[in-house]
Amino acid sequence: MAQTYNILVLPGDGIGPEIMAEAVKVLQAFETPQRKFQLRHELIGGCSIDATGKSVTEEVKQAALDSDAVLFAAVGGPKWDGARRGLDGPEGGLLQLRKAMDIYANLRPCSATSPSSSIAKEFSPFREEIIEGVDFVVVRENCGGAYFGKKVEDPTYAMDEWGYSEEEIQRIARLSAEVALRHDPPWPVISLDKANVLASSRLWRKVVEKTITTEYPQVKLVHQLADSASLIMATNPRSLNGVILADNTFGDMLSDQAGSIVGTLGVLPSASLNGLPGDKSLKTRPYGLYEPTHGSAPTIAGQNIANPVAMILCVAMMFRYSLNMETEAKQVETAVQKVLDSGIRTPDLRGKVGTKEVGDAIVAAL
Ligand code: NAI
Ligand code: MG
Repeated sequence: MAQTYNILVLPGDGIGPEIMAEAVKVLQAFETPQRKFQLRHELIGGCSIDATGKSVTEEVKQAALDSDAVLFAAVGGPKWDGARRGLDGPEGGLLQLRKAMDIYANLRPCSATSPSSSIAKEFSPFREEIIEGVDFVVVRENCGGAYFGKKVEDPTYAMDEWGYSEEEIQRIARLSAEVALRHDPPWPVISLDKANVLASSRLWRKVVEKTITTEYPQVKLVHQLADSASLIMATNPRSLNGVILADNTFGDMLSDQAGSIVGTLGVLPSASLNGLPGDKSLKTRPYGLYEPTHGSAPTIAGQNIANPVAMILCVAMMFRYSLNMETEAKQVETAVQKVLDSGIRTPDLRGKVGTKEVGDAIVAAL
């Protein structure tokens, strides 16, 4: 019997459909008689607003819950700017989907070694000896904290409640430790907080400490103040190699800062998870949504010049974190590296070839 994986494909707006087509090509290169990918294409964002009046429909949300993983490209563009905001705007489609899937952990890998070494060397604003050997993943809590707390917004006073419950901290701490354990030897977990000034950080530190030291004694845990982590990331990023665990606010900042190490948006994938396969505390099936860290780049849409690499590396992350296909994940990353190193690149990477040609070259390198 062939194993069939159900993948929800959400190309969205702008360059989304073009880069997604290349990611799907790469995905399909891994089909064998024993392994099939059942793809379901749906609308989200501006294109969904145009077709249905909603940035995402209930049907698409349900499709996400029924799938083994979701590939998402990007949403939004000037056509929908201004007219709609919040949950009704294009990006609201993504927010609603994240909420429905409860994907509380956002993973942003940053590696100056692979799969984009030649890219980091050329595009990073940092000197080569600073970024040499950098290899970490930021795990950001993405469903709680200041961004989701109570708001007060008066003309002369405003307040955001920045709160975390023990349970919210526990689950992200566990997930970070599970990610650390996927490396041999296990990566350390470097947990960021401001326990010197924030009450929520003091609980964060206490619960992370207890969860990881009792449940994952083989994982080394380091507590690091978030502001100094930011300095270290700019001066000695290699010393943060491992899993960098952070709450929503600090994680937002540090993951963007991490993006500056590689120096270009077009090659950075991300994953959002509600747990990993095999996680016994999960009440649902494990959900994973994979998306590039860039947006819909509307000004270059439809010209076959968008860089598909970040989207293709999302396929690798999906293999790794949702489909238990680590070998294949590495194969995708190696193929991407080979193609970028050989100079087959889109114009954003000072290359001369188009979106399709990069996708074809990566498939050929597989
Ligand atoms: P953006 O990431 O779309 O573009 C920033 C710059 O990078 C632009 O110069 C763009 O041409 C370039 N770029 C981005 N991805 C590229 C790729 N794959 N290949 C080549 N060049 C690439 O961010 P921007 O311009 O702030 O936003 C554009 C639209 O995207 C807006 O409507 C925004 O709301 C939306 N957006 C959507 C996101 C999502 O779907 N998660 C995230 C960020 C922005
Ligand atoms: Mg951000």
